[in-house]
Amino acid sequence: MDLKKITGYEAAKEVLDGHVVGLGTGSTTHHFIDKLGMRFKEEELDIMGIPTSYQSFFLAKEWNIPITTLEEHDVDIAVDGADEVDPAMNLIKGGGAAHTLEKIVDYSADRFIVIVDDSKMVKNLGEFPVPVEVIPCASRLVSRILEDMGAASSIRMAERKDGPVITDNGNFVIDAEFGLLQDPEDLEVELNSIPGVVENGIFSSMVDQVFIGTPDGVKKI
Ligand code: A5P
Repeated sequence: MDLKKITGYEAAKEVLDGHVVGLGTGSTTHHFIDKLGMRFKEEELDIMGIPTSYQSFFLAKEWNIPITTLEEHDVDIAVDGADEVDPAMNLIKGGGAAHTLEKIVDYSADRFIVIVDDSKMVKNLGEFPVPVEVIPCASRLVSRILEDMGAASSIRMAERKDGPVITDNGNFVIDAEFGLLQDPEDLEVELNSIPGVVENGIFSSMVDQVFIGTPDGVKKI
């Protein structure tokens, strides 16, 4: 059973006619957008999407889902994946380097649903390094401060491009390993106070619901 697929498909049922939908990024959200595209076509839904990355923008375009922006519309519902989810529904995101726009769109939504397979549920956040998007010229400064804060850090390197990953906003991503996070909410604020940091991948106190794909079906918390 493809747990990401059943979860993405289940979340697509939550979108109602007339909704403006925040379109998350990643492989789980890919399934959500596919199912939403099918519904858009078959049910002739009057919906619009606000993408959180070029990935979700291009996918929505393939399905002919109309695109809008946060400048023009409020977001009724946002659906997005995560790299880790703790019992308080705090997240680490940014495995695909899209967390800055994801946080803006997800935060704007009246209702924010996270879709994950059960491997993403953890007792404590922090096994997954915290992605920190930085203005390129600040990367050495930010790395030094992260190290002073006790994190091992490295600039994320691209796989099919020489040199670093460049985000959709033209920045670098530093992955910071703090170990298990004692207080994600405080760390989220502290990281964003470092000069040159655009946004980090901790999403605390934002989530309304988590849909978890398990071998027994999709569990909702
Ligand atoms: C994108 O930067 C991330 O925040 C993704 O939403 C997250 O990595 C989840 O991706 P998958 O659904 O591919 O696991």
